[in-house]
Amino acid sequence: MKNLLITGGAGFIGSNFVRYVLNRYPDYRTIVFDKLTYAGNLDNLRDVEKHPRYAFIRGDICDASAVERAVREHNIDTIVNFAAETHVDRSIMDADAFIKTDIYGTYVLLEAAKKFGLRYHQVGTDEVYGWVEQGRSIEEDRLLPRSPYAASKAGADLLIHAYVITHRVAATMTRGANNIGPYQYPEKVVPLFVTNAIDNKPLPLYGDGKQVRDYQFVLDHCEAIDLVLHRGKIGEFYNVGTGQETENIVMARMILKMLGKPESLIQPVADRPGHDRRYALDVTKLRALGWEPAHNFEEALQKTVQWYVENEWWWRKLKSGEYLEYYKKQYVERK
Ligand code: NAD
Ligand code: DAU
Repeated sequence: MKNLLITGGAGFIGSNFVRYVLNRYPDYRTIVFDKLTYAGNLDNLRDVEKHPRYAFIRGDICDASAVERAVREHNIDTIVNFAAETHVDRSIMDADAFIKTDIYGTYVLLEAAKKFGLRYHQVGTDEVYGWVEQGRSIEEDRLLPRSPYAASKAGADLLIHAYVITHRVAATMTRGANNIGPYQYPEKVVPLFVTNAIDNKPLPLYGDGKQVRDYQFVLDHCEAIDLVLHRGKIGEFYNVGTGQETENIVMARMILKMLGKPESLIQPVADRPGHDRRYALDVTKLRALGWEPAHNFEEALQKTVQWYVENEWWWRKLKSGEYLEYYKKQYVERK
């Protein structure tokens, strides 16, 4: 592996992965291929834009000729796919872009992998297992997605599995739990709550706030992707999470405490339709490759809160225009 096409590399996890790879592998080149949707942001990559082993291409993964051009021009041998529509609430409002990018876009990348004999890695999600009432999800569990976002990601997983078997594409797949950390768009719960709290604005907590998530630090997730890319078995899925379970209400209180803000900022609002009350991953398979997260939830949250406090330049300008329109629809007009 030398020349990585990092699709969706201008988003939250993708941009952290670019930085991680440039630091970790002195002979790798990272070519970011990103459509720059509302979630894509070149500010996420500002500190590497002049790096000699970094290049950026604006492009859509649904555009086969643009993908092929990028592969040829940069002598790509590996695709790591982060590109997706990623926000569950937006998929409930309108799923169109989710079906296009998350399913058809994955198909286009797989066709390129097949044609050029590329190594392929898919960044997937634990949401494909659906609400886990008891126990923990293992990689062989049935997929029971419950939101249009989760269903589109599950469609991609199945397509990749089929390409491995039918076309011998050398693919691996990870299914990650919730990430937190620097450069996460402030529609996702942790950056939304942190930035609202900094401004003394309400923290809209869905339903009873007792939903459980496994919030992991983004760099731990990047390390797991790296490990599976280099040491994972072709054709296999790997869960990625810490195994620690946190209720949203607990997470909200911790954020307020870290910022020295009152709990009265928590504002219960109507629940998300089809809200998955709990995700829980069994990560035995990944740990067998030697992976261990470096952060527990509190450490991950502390670093995240600190970053948003120190980087208002990054998030303040995002909270305007399209964001405010979305915010109004999602929260102010919420029934
Ligand atoms: P994000 O929304 O921050 O970034 C997505 C990126 O993809 C953006 O830069 C966007 O411009 C780009 N993109 C969207 N459509 C595109 C298209 N058609 N062509 C090219 N680029 C396109 O997402 P994220 O949170 O960084 O998630 C990255 C990946 O990880 C996604 O596949 C997501 O499903 C998966 N994932 C996310 C989490 C999480 O907690 N954030 C957890 C597990 C898995
Ligand atoms: O589990 C992995 C997934 O995590 C990723 O695949 C998705 O791309 C990512 O967006 C995330 O999905 P969630 O739906 O879990 O994340 P979100 O930040 O939207 O919500 C986290 C929890 O917080 C969830 O239980 C809903 C709740 N929530 C969310 C928002 C935006 C609130 O209570 N209030 C809110 O305003």
